[in-house]
Amino acid sequence: MGLSPVSQYLLMFISVLSLTGRVTKAQTVPVTFYPFGSVAGDTVGIAIEDANSTLVDLWRPFVFFGRTYNKTYVNNNGHLTFNQPLPEYYPKNFPINGNEDIIAPLWTDVDVSLNGSISYQQYSNGSVLTQATRDINQYFPYLNFTATWVLVATWDRVQYLFYSGTEASFQVVLISGGDLSFILMNYGDCAETLNGVQAGYDTVNSTSHSVITVSGSFIPNLVNSSNVNVPGRWAFRVDSAPENIIGVELRVISFSDLTKSENIVNVLEKLQQELVKSGLPSSAKLNFRRIQKTRP
Ligand SMILES: *[C@@H]1O[C@H](CO)[C@@H](O)[C@H](O)[C@H]1NC(C)=O
Ligand SMILES: *[C@@H]1O[C@H](CO)[C@@H](O)[C@H](O)[C@H]1NC(C)=O
Ligand SMILES: *[C@@H]1O[C@H](CO)[C@@H](O)[C@H](O)[C@H]1NC(C)=O
Ligand SMILES: *[C@@H]1O[C@H](CO)[C@@H](O)[C@H](O)[C@H]1NC(C)=O
Ligand SMILES: *[C@@H]1O[C@H](CO)[C@@H](O)[C@H](O)[C@H]1NC(C)=O
Ligand SMILES: *[C@@H]1O[C@H](CO)[C@@H](O)[C@H](O)[C@H]1NC(C)=O
Ligand SMILES: *[C@@H]1O[C@H](CO)[C@@H](O)[C@H](O)[C@H]1NC(C)=O
Repeated sequence: MGLSPVSQYLLMFISVLSLTGRVTKAQTVPVTFYPFGSVAGDTVGIAIEDANSTLVDLWRPFVFFGRTYNKTYVNNNGHLTFNQPLPEYYPKNFPINGNEDIIAPLWTDVDVSLNGSISYQQYSNGSVLTQATRDINQYFPYLNFTATWVLVATWDRVQYLFYSGTEASFQVVLISGGDLSFILMNYGDCAETLNGVQAGYDTVNSTSHSVITVSGSFIPNLVNSSNVNVPGRWAFRVDSAPENIIGVELRVISFSDLTKSENIVNVLEKLQQELVKSGLPSSAKLNFRRIQKTRP
C-alpha cells in the first residue's frame, strides 16, 4: 500500500468506527445483473495472480471512441484497460488526461484474496445477445441496434482492502454490433468505504469521459442510481469519435431569421434533443460553426 504502519493502523481504526453496523451484505442476485458466475459458465476466480489482472482476448474487436481493441485486461480493482494491465488500487479522478483508455464500474481497492470473486464471459450468440439488443434499443432508440458480441465482467461480493466483512457487487457489460459499441455498468449492494473511489470511463487525453458521482458514503446509493431510469444501471454509447462535425439541412421561412444568434441557439437545442435520442451523451455540447445557403 505504500503507507507507513501508523497510517495503516489509523485507516483500519477509522473503518471500525465508521462501518460498525453498516456493512452491506448482498442478499440476492442484483436485479440489473446479466448472468454471471460459475452457474452462467463464466471463467471464475481470476485476477489473483499476474499483477491482479487477467488478459481476455476478445472474440470481436471492440471500438472505444475510435480506437479498436482486440484484447482487454480485467483488473482486480474495478476497471478494464486495453493496452496493459493496470494494478493501481488508488483511483485517479476523471478526467485523468492520461495515456490509457479505462472503463471503471468501481475503481477502488478491492482484494479478492480476502473474499468474493471476479469472473467474465464473452457471448456471440444466445439469450444474452437478445437481452443486450433489447436493453440498448430501449435506452438508445432510433439506432435499430443488433448486438453481435457481449462481454460480461462481474465483481461478485468482493471485499475492500482494510474493511473486513464488506461486500461490493458490480458488473460491466461491453456490447457491440455493427459499428456501434456500448457499455452498461450494473450495481448491486455495495458497502461504503473510506478508500478512494471513482466510477465511469475515461479516454486517452480525456477527449471523452463520463463520471458516475460516487464518494465513500454515496457508494450504497449506486444500487438505486441510473442515467437510463433503471435503478442500478448506467448505459453509455462509446464508439463515437470525440468530435463529429455534422451538417444539417433545414428548410426555413426566412434566412435572416436564422442568422439571429438567439434563433441559432434555439435550433441547436432542438438538434441536441434529437441527437441525444440517437445516442449522443446529454452532456455533449453542440457548437455552431457555419451557415450556408444552399437553395434560393
Ligand atoms: C494484488 O493486490 C493485492 C491487494 O491489493 C496486493 O497486496 C498485491 O501486492 C497485488 N499484487 C500485485 C502483483 O500487484
Ligand atoms: C484487431 O483485429 C483486426 C482483425 O480481426 C485487425 O484488423 C486489427 O488491426 C487488430 N487491432 C489491433 C489493435 O491489434
Ligand atoms: C466471506 O463472506 C462470507 C459471506 O458473507 C463470510 O461468511 C466469510 O466469513 C467471508 N470470508 C472472509 C475471509 O472474510
Ligand atoms: C454459441 O457460441 C458458443 C461459443 O462459441 C458455441 O459453443 C455454441 O455452439 C454456439 N451456440 C449456437 C446455438 O450457435
Ligand atoms: C433494422 O435492422 C434490421 C436488421 O438489421 C432490418 O431488417 C430493418 O429493416 C431495420 N429497420 C429500420 C427501421 O432501419
Ligand atoms: C495525447 O496528447 C499528446 C500530447 O498532446 C499527443 O502527443 C498525443 O498524440 C495525444 N494522443 C491522442 C490519442 O490523441
Ligand atoms: C434503494 O431503493 C429501494 C427501493 O426504493 C430501497 O428499499 C432501498 O433502501 C434503497 N437503497 C439504498 C441504499 O438507498
